[in-house]
Amino acid sequence: MDLGNLRQSYKKASFDVQDALENPIEQFKKWFEQALESDLSAEANAMVLSTVDKNNRPSARVVLLKSVDEGFVFYTNYDSRKGEDLANNPYASLTFFWAELERQVRIEGKVEKISPSKSDEYFKSRPIGSQIGAIASPQSRIIDTRDELERLVKSIEKNYEETNFIERPKNWGGYRLIPNYMEFWQGRESRLHDRINYLLKEDVEERYASPWEIVRLAP
Ligand SMILES: Cc1cc2nc3c(=O)[nH]c(=O)nc-3n(C[C@H](O)[C@H](O)[C@H](O)COP(=O)(O)O)c2cc1C
Repeated sequence: MDLGNLRQSYKKASFDVQDALENPIEQFKKWFEQALESDLSAEANAMVLSTVDKNNRPSARVVLLKSVDEGFVFYTNYDSRKGEDLANNPYASLTFFWAELERQVRIEGKVEKISPSKSDEYFKSRPIGSQIGAIASPQSRIIDTRDELERLVKSIEKNYEETNFIERPKNWGGYRLIPNYMEFWQGRESRLHDRINYLLKEDVEERYASPWEIVRLAP
């Protein structure tokens, strides 16, 4: 296998500071809508969430973006490995790669739990099977066999048939990453890619229209 010769030439688009919207969340929405409209082979809302554990070691996994407001919202088990990492160190990053658009977006910031009522609302909107799965799975814990998981699912299903109600477990819910850094990468020819970067200014003076400084980075 000669991976050295695997090489892609990026020619689809360009991106410059002048094209960048003032607010990076608005810029994200614009690129995200374009990703949704294009024929992506993978889920456009799949993103790599990177966290740091209590020994300062990184750990990363894919989660799904479920909404965008002043930050980026995803749902998971609060007792999972990522939940433990975030309880210990709330700083994390998100990475999107939309291969068909030759684009990457990097987002860094601080993560907080969303309100229990918002988590309830989203939990109720999920298909019953997903609600049951969320309750049955002790995410990130060692389990002996798949049978063990399926037995748990069966007992929750039985309970649901009797009560017709599933309560969101308190250890399952949403997180919101509030960004202080965002980077938009557009692939260009000969490795001369465009990288437009938003930095949150620490002390925003009133004369600044926007708290975000927009700069270009070398590829
Ligand atoms: C496409 C895709 C989407 C996923 N979406 C989620 C998600 O939204 N929430 C989640 O908890 N896990 C999701 N997972 C599973 C995670 O990648 C991971 O296996 C799980 O959350 C446990 O991670 P942890 O042990 O680091 O906490 C997804 C995996 C893939 C491949």
